[in-house]
Amino acid sequence: LRYPVICIDGPSGAGKGTVTWRLSQVLGYQLLDSGALYRIVGLKAFEAGLMTADASQAIDEMAVLALTQSLEIAFVPNNESGRVDIIVNSEVVGEQVRNETVGGYASQIAVFSKVRQALLKLQQDMATRSGLVADGRDMGTVVFSDADVKVFLTASAEARAERRVTQLLNAGQTADFEAILATIKARDDRDENRSTAPSKPAKDALLLDSSHLDADAVYEQVKQYCQAQG
Ligand code: C5P
Repeated sequence: LRYPVICIDGPSGAGKGTVTWRLSQVLGYQLLDSGALYRIVGLKAFEAGLMTADASQAIDEMAVLALTQSLEIAFVPNNESGRVDIIVNSEVVGEQVRNETVGGYASQIAVFSKVRQALLKLQQDMATRSGLVADGRDMGTVVFSDADVKVFLTASAEARAERRVTQLLNAGQTADFEAILATIKARDDRDENRSTAPSKPAKDALLLDSSHLDADAVYEQVKQYCQAQG
């Protein structure tokens, strides 16, 4: 038996998380937040002293692989945050991985093909139990290349930086637009130009630019596209 899979790929800040959560709720599908997997491994690798925050140090791929293989990972939906919590070796990892610093650690270890391979089965197995909405960079190109629906959701780096600034200000924090923009561009660059599973639209993906759309409009368009694909 094969369950339906919907892939929502694209850079961070394009709105994938929100649309993925809403679709999974409405359809009663599981949600795969694949970025969280890379964030966990990145954070653990940083804590283990395997990398520097500024990406100035070469990383030992085999050491990150061994660390990845030592992690027992499971996902649990959290209705309060509207995201999925991750359980790693029986410890709940919540919002502490959802910041740009850990996003940077994630993109440093996400270039390693052996690490990606080690995370592959865990992701693919999620589609063997029920329908799935999968959020990431390579869902439509690699992990679920035969998915029923593929969307590549993007937005200009400036629009994404602007959203991040608004988020931080709303949370009572300070925000420097130029610094945020530079960080976003550096992460995009690493994700798009790596040799293994670079971030790019699948050939059969719907391309959607959310630069001038709010979250509701993105959700409506993606939902309509899913319906049109049957
Ligand atoms: O989507 P999110 O911002 O949580 O992803 C964090 C990082 O993890 C990305 O910048 C990317 O380097 C990596 N990633 C990936 N493949 C995925 C999901 C995330 O390489 N499918």
